[in-house]
Amino acid sequence: MTIAICPGSFDPPTNGHIDVIRRALAIFDEVVVGVIGNPSKDPLFSAGERVSLLERVFEGVDRMSVESFDGLLVDFARSRNADVIVKGLRGVGDFDSEQQMAQMNHHLSGIETCFVATNPSHGYISSSLVKEVARLGGDTDRLVPVEVQRALDEKVPK
Ligand code: PNS
Repeated sequence: MTIAICPGSFDPPTNGHIDVIRRALAIFDEVVVGVIGNPSKDPLFSAGERVSLLERVFEGVDRMSVESFDGLLVDFARSRNADVIVKGLRGVGDFDSEQQMAQMNHHLSGIETCFVATNPSHGYISSSLVKEVARLGGDTDRLVPVEVQRALDEKVPK
């Protein structure tokens, strides 16, 4: 049984994140989505809100759970008996920092990181841009799941 961790800030979860998690579910037996409690940037959504949004998006989906964590990702991964970390790569812009994190995580724990190439139709989507679009009154349809769209509408009134 192979357990994968899909970690991230998910502030908010985007269609790109959802695609990576679904693809991890297609490869591995179980997926634990790890929502970092205190991301470096001040989050728009609390950790509880981000966990609850992901739970709603994946309601009824077996073999997965969503949890928040603080501290080192590898400690969280170990505590869940995870075998692999799964991340999405949108392009070369993501590569340097993702490679560095993968190497650091391997150095710290021996855990491997497996990258999936983001679906090109999601390649331009980031949580930061989604928040900017929402703040400036743009339409977030097709960028985030409908549950997240509603939450954005409440958090960032037009
Ligand atoms: O969605 P993000 O913001 O790209 O996710 C980044 C995240 C949460 C995966 C990364 O910041 C992380 O792993 N944080 C945990 C702290 C840690 O383990 N740091 C050292 C290893 S590189």
